[in-house]
Amino acid sequence: MEIGVCYFPEHWSRDRWAADVADMAEAGIDYVRMGEFAWSRFEPDPGSYDFEWLDEVVDLVGDYGMEVVLCTPTATPPKWLVDEYPDIRQEEQDGTVREFGSRRHYCFNSPAYRAETERIVSDLADHYAGHPAVVGWQTDNEFGCHDTLRCYCDDCATSFRNWLRGRYGDVETLNEAWGTAFWSQRYRSFGEVDPPRHTPANHHPAHLLDYHRFTSDRVADYNRLHADALRGADDSWFVTHNFMGDFSALNARDVSADLDFASWDSYPTLHAQTRGETDPALNPESEAAQRAGDPDVTALNHALYRCAADGEFWVMEEQAGDIRAFPYSAEPADGMLRLWSHAAVANGAATVSYFRWRRCPYGQEQYWGALCDHDGTPDRGLRAAERVAEDLDTLPELGPVHGDVALLHDYDSLWATEAEPHSQDFDYWAHLRTYFRALRRRGATVDVVGPDADFAEYDGVVAPSLYVVTDDLATRLAAYTEGGGTLLLGARSGYSNESSRFRDDPAPGPFAPVVDSTVEQHESLAPGVEARVEYGDVTYDARIWSEWLSLDGATELGTHKAGPASGSSAVGRTNHGSGTAAYVGVWPSLGLADRIVSDLFADALPFTDTLPERVRVARRDGHTWVLNHGDTSVDVNAPETASVLLGDATVGPHDLAVLDVPPDALEVSPTSQSD
Ligand code: GAL
Repeated sequence: MEIGVCYFPEHWSRDRWAADVADMAEAGIDYVRMGEFAWSRFEPDPGSYDFEWLDEVVDLVGDYGMEVVLCTPTATPPKWLVDEYPDIRQEEQDGTVREFGSRRHYCFNSPAYRAETERIVSDLADHYAGHPAVVGWQTDNEFGCHDTLRCYCDDCATSFRNWLRGRYGDVETLNEAWGTAFWSQRYRSFGEVDPPRHTPANHHPAHLLDYHRFTSDRVADYNRLHADALRGADDSWFVTHNFMGDFSALNARDVSADLDFASWDSYPTLHAQTRGETDPALNPESEAAQRAGDPDVTALNHALYRCAADGEFWVMEEQAGDIRAFPYSAEPADGMLRLWSHAAVANGAATVSYFRWRRCPYGQEQYWGALCDHDGTPDRGLRAAERVAEDLDTLPELGPVHGDVALLHDYDSLWATEAEPHSQDFDYWAHLRTYFRALRRRGATVDVVGPDADFAEYDGVVAPSLYVVTDDLATRLAAYTEGGGTLLLGARSGYSNESSRFRDDPAPGPFAPVVDSTVEQHESLAPGVEARVEYGDVTYDARIWSEWLSLDGATELGTHKAGPASGSSAVGRTNHGSGTAAYVGVWPSLGLADRIVSDLFADALPFTDTLPERVRVARRDGHTWVLNHGDTSVDVNAPETASVLLGDATVGPHDLAVLDVPPDALEVSPTSQSD
């Protein structure tokens, strides 16, 4: 449980480095990450290397007892390289070339760029192999940032055709699987298949789904090239990559198979504003969200990356101040910089590394806040980081986080519903988050897992929009409920096979005999179209997606109460083997989701009531963090045997407490006014 910082010595004059590094050590920093955009400093001219400047900083960091994380510099190929190999530049769907002048302008499938990558990564790795201060590497930087994961150039076309050959063997199998009879799209050979470039109407969903699988696979393969070169030079190093929040285009679990652990970059006030959240509960325009972010947007990503590679993760870039991001960029509330770091640690982070040491006075990110201001003076972030370093020193070293409930997150379903959203509001992440939020408001510890997870480890599994389903996954989930597990299958599940083709049986396809229900009708709902569901004695709103269910043995828990769906079933529940399975045929409002999860997963929920607004708890290794993202205080009632390791029994606005008991030992309630 340590802290780090991202440092760019190449932005500052040499005579500043010693003071900066001394200040980092003084602040309690453990790791310094460097080098991810420095290719033109490492190799100012083709073939002529200059590592000496970085050697000096790496040695300095080591002299102060801190450790170095280096990065492969491939996110920013230098101008001379782009001029020498113009084909490495990305192409958009309409053929527009992405030119030099910012970053991430290279194509993952360019043979020339792959060769150049191997060269620079191997030479850097050989140079730093065995250096006592260098403990690990970050590959590249944020694969796919600025929407650059998918390129449509000729190198991609060639590579896509090879990938399709590997997947289908012969083109008739592809024609059959995709359904190219539609609109006369039959191919005579793999050589005829192009990337889904600019077309008059929408693309074939199977073509898109495979392109999205292919582009993700190729980035995983590109990452492997880095990892192999690094480990080949020094196998004591760890290798990680800094992923992004709610990032759809890259299968982080596939990439993580070649990493020691996953990392991600957390900018809570940016993420709260840009996640396209349609849930009024979030209200991204509220001052609370602008200054404190959204606790569940951030925590869902902590859980996703924690589970991507065996339980440990880093926040490689933690927001350290205001951000240069649209639409708005408020200063975080007092306390939030510390709170975000604790939330990461509480959710399992081994290290929280701040972005960046010092605000850069020039370049594209002048307005991006840092631990220190552009003149080098300490900013609010530095004070927060120092405090976090002290906090973590007082806590015992804690083991990993294990969730009680699994939220099933599936990239195939994400890509397929993205290709065919059937509603402009259908955002896969937001649908998952509705359940995640409901569970967290009752204190549950939730893992975000992929289809290969071992479901038997969990008290409950929640699978919203499990749209693309293989027979194997359906069999494993059925076995999970037969064996006593509780499965919540959310709307829009079991519709399609692996080629985004509707299955022969009605939705939810292979799950119908598990949930004893089928979908009779489905519709997407514009904001003005009413959907209401009576559940128990209360009528709740539903949104965006609605299905009318036919129950074949399931007990009706929810009934449609508006529009032509009125009277038909919306939610059903049944016993399956010794377990329970429920199908929720709507995208529920938070109130309805809360009601459903508390009925189904009572044993995994530490609190019988929802936590006060914007308050969350997180359990790690028998300890609980009470994290107050709100602007009023709460009281924590703990047994006498409990110790408060950090904070107090009253947790003020944007503050926290850590106790050495699990959440179910606690009561958390708003501080009463009379106090
Ligand atoms: C991240 C990126 C960093 C920096 C930061 C602030 O997405 O990895 O390099 O750009 O945002 O803009």
